[in-house]
Amino acid sequence: MADIPLAERPLTSSGAFRIEALELSKTFGSLENEVPAVDKVSFNLRAGEFVALLGPSGCGKSTILNMVAGLLPYTGGEIRINGSTVVAGRVLPEVGYVFQRDTVFPWRTVARNIGYGLEVKGVAKAEREARVARMIAQARLSGFENAYPLTLSGGMRQRVSLMRTLIMEPQILLMDEPFGALDTHTKLEMHQFLLSLWERERQTVIFVTHDLSEALTLADRIILLSARPGRIKQDFAVPFARPRDAIKLRESQEYGQLFARIWHSLGEEFAVTKAE
Ligand SMILES: Nc1ncnc2c1ncn2[C@@H]1O[C@H](COP(=O)(O)OP(=O)(O)OP(=O)(O)O)[C@@H](O)[C@H]1O
Ligand SMILES: [Mg+2]
Repeated sequence: MADIPLAERPLTSSGAFRIEALELSKTFGSLENEVPAVDKVSFNLRAGEFVALLGPSGCGKSTILNMVAGLLPYTGGEIRINGSTVVAGRVLPEVGYVFQRDTVFPWRTVARNIGYGLEVKGVAKAEREARVARMIAQARLSGFENAYPLTLSGGMRQRVSLMRTLIMEPQILLMDEPFGALDTHTKLEMHQFLLSLWERERQTVIFVTHDLSEALTLADRIILLSARPGRIKQDFAVPFARPRDAIKLRESQEYGQLFARIWHSLGEEFAVTKAE
């Protein structure tokens, strides 16, 4: 909890949610030079929900995700995970994070990248190797166990990154534009891949993106943020049936209709960002 006295704490939690953000705010900089990045953002995620956080560049998406993960302290409001307040700097074993930038270790092979977290945790070699082998098979990386990241395609590297997080079996998955650097075709492949993994495990996911198609393909709900400082503008339900086919979905009428509705609203925020 940031520096807010108990009596002034915002809203109360029902305890029924996996993740709660209650009037979450973040201001960067000093008093004379304050940069408000996130302004009183509140949202809830139920267990197993897949939510996309959508908004223009600089609206505070990564900042929100970093605060949920406990990597960055908030300056107002509160975040709760499974009913407990998130304190910055305290590691949450139930949370897995896939970063905006490619963060695989170039000096480690594919297998040793994927097994990294288990190594740090001190999991015995035999178990580690068995779990890594399962992840490699699922990610269709067989034959590349001993390859170094520099020799892989962008899509393969992102699969390594994803598996390195998933091997820890997180209950909550925070993803910050993980496919932002990929071409359209590879991105669609990654969507299919992620959907197939998520259908099995149903982690609670916050997926940050500024790509509306991506949000519609993956999420149950889309939370649209305004241009900086990020505020919640709208919360859209994405009612498309699951399991979804990332390619066929885009040909459907319902996809086109919802796309048009959200696109208009998102466009208004892009315009604000451009004018700044
Ligand atoms: N450490 C920091 N110090 C000062 N300002 C910061 C810091 N980190 C972020 N900001 C500012 O906060 C705002 C939100 O940044 P953030 O990275 O969360 O945006 P974003 O929505 O993730 O953007 P993008 O889509 O480009 O990744 C921006 O104006 C940014 O300049
Ligand atoms: Mg970002």
